Amino acid sequence: MTDRPYVLLSCALSLDGYLDDATDRRLVLSNDDDWDRVDEVRASCDAIMVGANTIRRDNPRLLVRSAERRRRRIADGRPENPLKVTITASGDLDPATEFFATGEQVVYAPSGVATPGETVPMGERVDLAAVLADLAARGVRRLMVEGGTDMHTAFLTAGLADELHMVTAPLFVGDGKAPRFVHDGRFPWDGEHRATLAEVRAIGNVALHRYLLSKSEVDKHWLRAAIELSTRCPPSTTAFAVGAIVVDGQGNGLARGYSRESGGTEHAEEAALAKLDPADPRLRRATMYSSLEPCGRRSSRPRTCTDLILAAGIPRVVFALREPPTFVDGRGAELLTAGGAEVVEVPELAAAVRDVNRNLL
Ligand SMILES: NC(=O)c1ccc[n+]([C@@H]2O[C@H](COP(=O)([O-])OP(=O)(O)OC[C@H]3O[C@@H](n4cnc5c(N)ncnc54)[C@H](OP(=O)(O)O)[C@@H]3O)[C@@H](O)[C@H]2O)c1
Ligand SMILES: [Zn+2]
Repeated sequence: MTDRPYVLLSCALSLDGYLDDATDRRLVLSNDDDWDRVDEVRASCDAIMVGANTIRRDNPRLLVRSAERRRRRIADGRPENPLKVTITASGDLDPATEFFATGEQVVYAPSGVATPGETVPMGERVDLAAVLADLAARGVRRLMVEGGTDMHTAFLTAGLADELHMVTAPLFVGDGKAPRFVHDGRFPWDGEHRATLAEVRAIGNVALHRYLLSKSEVDKHWLRAAIELSTRCPPSTTAFAVGAIVVDGQGNGLARGYSRESGGTEHAEEAALAKLDPADPRLRRATMYSSLEPCGRRSSRPRTCTDLILAAGIPRVVFALREPPTFVDGRGAELLTAGGAEVVEVPELAAAVRDVNRNLL
């Protein structure tokens, strides 16, 4: 998507899923090393958003702590700190809070509601998509959302999030009056459609879970894995090095393959499909990720990968690089589309595929 910034949600939770306890004191969930990780993420973003209640309750500074990271931002021609952003309906914000103390801020509020700092009137109610469009117009390409419950719920239920960083701390709050990670609601990720786990990392006594939420991020994740796989191909001067991964509708990798995996002229998609039972019902909702456009014509064997994919009933194909007409003029994408499959090209990753095949291109 280009009309809104990349949205990264970040939170720290107790083991029973609370963002805080129910007392006036702020519950410390994270540790120094994790704050340093959060600082790095902040430094990578153009703006940081929290809900007005988090400003009232926690009085966060929302600055990049590390002087080195601030220096690097300036050297890159960016402001020392990300833009601070909040949303309020009541306008109940104290101008003396840390939010307004340093750096640049912007407050989104319904028209006619007065707030401290630069306020953008949003009509009768503040609509998240409109907020994101306004931020994009201000040059914000990467937005970090740091809570609380209302903010996370709003972004997630609207499907306006690309990535989630969730840290769990080894403690229980055990009090239903405390704020949970999210409210009840309808989330795009459920038993049928799951988020994609990209990373789990121990950071001292807390665990970071990094999830990919948007389809575009999930596609890039699996394509990168397919490109990585393609580096294992036995070398050839007459055929490309390709990696392919079949992923089911719930985000499980079902099978992987790479060019010439079992010798000869085997193609990556063919190698992956050979590991699956053609009657496997999961194929009917799967995606074939292939670093290179699946072949639509083939000199070495009768069945093309396009043919094999359609015959397997795989409804979606994602690739990074169109097959260059070096050996055959494939037209795989057109044939797949004509066969009823959804075809997605991710040109952003094409350079990496070219690099793996630089001896041929
Ligand atoms: N552990 C963590 O990672 C973490 C991070 C952040 C916060 N927290 C905790 O989360 C708790 C706060 O969560 P919360 O859900 O109460 O508050 P919140 O999400 O920080 O803020 C909610 C407020 O944002 C404003 N708002 C949200 N959506 C809006 C919309 N569409 N239009 C206009 N205004 C809108 C409203 O402000 P008005 O009330 O001004 O109208 C609303 O009351 C605190 O306990 C805090 O410590 C924890
Ligand atoms: Zn092929």
